Amino acid sequence: MDILKQRIAEQGVILSNQTLQLDALLNHQVDPKLIMEIGQEFARRFKEERITKVLTIESSGITVAFATALELGVPLVFARRKKTLTTDGEVWCERVPSFTKGIVTDILISKNVLSSQDRVLLIDDIIANGDAARGLIRILERAEAELAGVGVVVEKSFQAGARLIREMGYRFESIVAIKSLEGGAVQFESQ
Ligand code: G4P
Ligand code: NA
Ligand code: NA
Repeated sequence: MDILKQRIAEQGVILSNQTLQLDALLNHQVDPKLIMEIGQEFARRFKEERITKVLTIESSGITVAFATALELGVPLVFARRKKTLTTDGEVWCERVPSFTKGIVTDILISKNVLSSQDRVLLIDDIIANGDAARGLIRILERAEAELAGVGVVVEKSFQAGARLIREMGYRFESIVAIKSLEGGAVQFESQ
């Protein structure tokens, strides 16, 4: 998606060789039209997969996951970080480290919103080491829900997350993949 590459090149801020701040278009401010186009693209790629639910994790994955779920005509479930949990029902919980925040958090999904009948599309904004995504995948496995595939807006292909998920045998799709942030420039994979 050339428009997304252009926006990342114009509005992304390289914070280090590993980290690209995208607050102007994904993580703080969002362009609803662009997000809707990305959701339509994910829906197009996964439309034959008999998806019953889209799953993401709060907070920045929610906009794109919502756009995808709207287009597919299925519910969106967003996993919560522990501190915001208010449900008193039973929950699935996995502990994951966070690359950017340097902390460990618990991610939770109520057992009321996920079942063994579900065929799930996992959507997220950015994948680095994939700890959050793999935590969500462990919950799906414990819930005996089926994972139809994973879609992320930005894959940092110089980090391990996307590769690890593909190696687990799951379908993995990204809208754009960044192969390097070195030398103060964003270099994209040709996709
Ligand atoms: P990982 O799962 O791929 O290993 O990433 P990790 O959980 O360590 O990432 C923690 C958060 O940092 C995630 O957002 C992830 O999207 C974000 N992140 C990782 N690398 C980058 C990067 O280069 N740029 C930006 N902008 N974000 C990055 P989160 O904790 O779910 O926070 P939120 O944004 O959803 O609130
Ligand atoms: Na994020
Ligand atoms: Na995220």
